[in-house]
Amino acid sequence: MSSFRDIGVAVAGTGFIGPVHVEALQRLGVHVTGILGSTPEKSEAACARLGLPRAYVSYDALLSDSAVAAVHLAIPNVLHYDYARRALASGKHVMCEKPLAMHAQEAHTLVAQAKATGLHAGVCYNIRFYPLNLEARARRKQMGRVYSVVGRYVQDWLLYDTDYNWRVLASEGGILRAVADIGTHWMDLVVSVTGLEVEAVFADLRTVHKVRQRPVGEIQTFAGSGEVARAPVGIGTDDTGCVLFRFKGGAQGVLWVSQVTAGRKNTLHYEIAAARGALAWNSEQPNELWIGHRDRPSEVLVRDPALLSDLARGYAHYPGGHNEGFPDSFKGCFQAFYTAISSGTSPDAVQYPTFAEGAHEIVLCDAILQSHREERWVAV
Ligand SMILES: NC(=O)c1ccc[n+]([C@@H]2O[C@H](COP(=O)([O-])OP(=O)(O)OC[C@H]3O[C@@H](n4cnc5c(N)ncnc54)[C@H](O)[C@@H]3O)[C@@H](O)[C@H]2O)c1
Repeated sequence: MSSFRDIGVAVAGTGFIGPVHVEALQRLGVHVTGILGSTPEKSEAACARLGLPRAYVSYDALLSDSAVAAVHLAIPNVLHYDYARRALASGKHVMCEKPLAMHAQEAHTLVAQAKATGLHAGVCYNIRFYPLNLEARARRKQMGRVYSVVGRYVQDWLLYDTDYNWRVLASEGGILRAVADIGTHWMDLVVSVTGLEVEAVFADLRTVHKVRQRPVGEIQTFAGSGEVARAPVGIGTDDTGCVLFRFKGGAQGVLWVSQVTAGRKNTLHYEIAAARGALAWNSEQPNELWIGHRDRPSEVLVRDPALLSDLARGYAHYPGGHNEGFPDSFKGCFQAFYTAISSGTSPDAVQYPTFAEGAHEIVLCDAILQSHREERWVAV
C-alpha cells in the first residue's frame, strides 16, 4: 500500500465546498497539487489563501499536470459531466461533487467510462461517513426487517425571494433543486444505512418563489447577498417537496425537503423502524445515535470509538466527547477513496460512494419529477 502523500490531487472549485475538500485532503495527508477557480485570478487568490503550491490557469493546465493522479470536482452541477469525462480520459481518478451529472444518460455514460478505464470514480455523498451513520449501517442486520424510514432534510438559506444562487436556475443546477441538492443526500444515506432498494416513488413538489430577485454578479453559496443591484428572474425549481417511497420487500418511506424553513440551517434527520428496534440520527447532533427499544429503555449512543463497530471505528478520528462534524465527514469520504486507490482495491469492491450509486440518485430524481408531473406512483 502506497502512502496518501504519494498521490497528487487537484481541486476544481474555489467557492463553498472546494476549500472544504482541500482542508479534508490536507488533514488526511494527501498531497494537494493546486486549485482551479473560474478565472486565473480566482485560482491565484484561493491558492494563496489555502497555502497550495499551484494556481491552475485552466482545466487543460490542471489535466496536463503529470503530478495530478486524481481530480476533485467542486464546481456547479452543469460542469460535472464534461469535467469528469475529460479527467477520466486524461487517466485521472475522479471524486465528483453531487449530483454526478444533470441527466441520467450523462451519468450512465460516466459510469461506463469509469468502468472501461479501471480508474476510481466517486461521488461525494459525504454524510454516509459520519461515524454514527456507519454505526447505524453496521447495526442494521441485528434489527431484522425494516418497516419504515421517515425523515427530512431542511434548510433556510433560500427563504426570501431575494436569496439567490446558481442552484435556483434549472439550466445551472438541474430541473430539480431541493430534491436533487439535499434530498439525494438523504436518499443515498438511508439506502446505504438500511440496504433497502427503492421500488417506486410518489412526489408532490412546490416552487414557493416563482420569481426571485437575482443580484447582478456572482454570489457564493450560503453567503447573504445584502444590498446589491437586482433583476427579477423566473424560477421553476422546487423549494419544498414530499416524496413517498415503496421499498423492495415492503418497507415504506417518506421524505420532506425544504430550503425555506426559517431557523433550520442544515437539518438532516432519519428514523428507521425495524422488527427488533429503531434508529434515529440528526445532522445537527451528529455525535448521538438514538436506539429505540420496545421492552427496555431506549438508548442514546454518544460517539466514542471504544464503543463502535469495526466499520464505524475506522472513520472516528477523535476520542469520545471530542465532537466530530461536517468537515470530518469529507475526511472520512476521502479516506475511503484514497484507501482504495493506495491499496489497489478493485473499483468493484470499495467503501466510497461510486459513480454507479451517483447515477442511481439521478434515476431516482427522474422518477420523482415524473411522479410530481403526472401525480401518480412511478416505478424506479
Ligand atoms: N457534499 C456536500 O455536502 C456539498 C455541499 C455543498 C455543495 N456541494 C456541491 O458542490 C458543488 C459546488 O457547490 P458550491 O456550494 O461550492 O458552489 P459555489 O457557487 O460556492 O462554488 C462554485 C465554484 O465553482 C467555480 N467555478 C465556476 N465555473 C468554473 C469553471 N469553469 N472552472 C473552475 N471553477 C469554476 C466558481 O468560481 C465557484 O468558486 C455543487 O455541485 C454542489 O452540489 C456539495
